[in-house]
Amino acid sequence: MKTSRFTVKSKWTKTKLLQSQQELAKLVPPTQLFSRKHLFDMLERYDMVYVKPDAGSQGKGVMRVEKKGSAYQYQNGIRTLTCRSYRELCRSLSKQIDSKRYLIQRGIHLLTYDHRPFDLRVMIQRNPEGEWEATGTVGRVAHPRKAVTNGSQGGTIYAADRLIRASADDAKTDELLQEIDRIALAVAAAMSHTYPALNELGLDLAVDRDLTLWILEVNTLPDPCPFTKLKQKDTIKRIVSYGKAYGRYYPLNCKKSKQGM
Ligand SMILES: Nc1ncnc2c1ncn2[C@@H]1O[C@H](COP(=O)(O)OP(=O)(O)OP(=O)(O)O)[C@@H](O)[C@H]1O
Ligand SMILES: [Mg+2]
Repeated sequence: MKTSRFTVKSKWTKTKLLQSQQELAKLVPPTQLFSRKHLFDMLERYDMVYVKPDAGSQGKGVMRVEKKGSAYQYQNGIRTLTCRSYRELCRSLSKQIDSKRYLIQRGIHLLTYDHRPFDLRVMIQRNPEGEWEATGTVGRVAHPRKAVTNGSQGGTIYAADRLIRASADDAKTDELLQEIDRIALAVAAAMSHTYPALNELGLDLAVDRDLTLWILEVNTLPDPCPFTKLKQKDTIKRIVSYGKAYGRYYPLNCKKSKQGM
């Protein structure tokens, strides 16, 4: 079925859509198109930013850039480079950035688990009645030497509540989990208003060190693989059965991300 694989690739387009909704706008970290001037301004304003390809996936080409006094530092994969001046930073970054469009986003200081940053992936699907439902949330813990949490970059999957509970008490954890479902439904409403052909979404959410939630991005062709790594199998079973109802069959040949203990 063709409509079940409808996709919107541009992160810029999707970010602007979310920012146009009053309730969601405040959850999206400030984001701009990449330019030398925008990068300079954003590094003056925020201590840390992420630079990422507009149409990227799997964390490829996603870099973390920081201002350190009068010097600059950026991390790409497991490599960290230091530049003594802004000019040097730009020269070095331009070797990484091809002719494609890139974005700059305020960096969120992710909550950590075992000293490794993590974020959350929420699966949102139309249920067989056609209504949007948040069908599962996993936590993705970054590879020990990386600034991205993607499974294909060596991330490890854990149950989301376990990761949050390690930093928040039970009441706050429950509040955050409820808030996550509320945000998921608001994102689905906004996205499907503009793109009615959508049946599923994968929402990347960050929890910062003050336990505030942020929307990092929304994926229109989400990979269900992280959910196969959960010990309990109800979630992946429901994801697969909802997918089937709108004509999507997942191969579930999932080798990339690791399973947390
Ligand atoms: N603004 C940010 N602050 C903190 N971490 C970020 C930020 N943006 C991205 N990241 C980290 O980088 C990862 C990859 O970024 P993002 O999800 O935007 O790109 P992607 O390559 O499209 O991934 P996907 O495979 O989910 O489509 C995120 O999962 C998160 O760990
Ligand atoms: Mg992502």
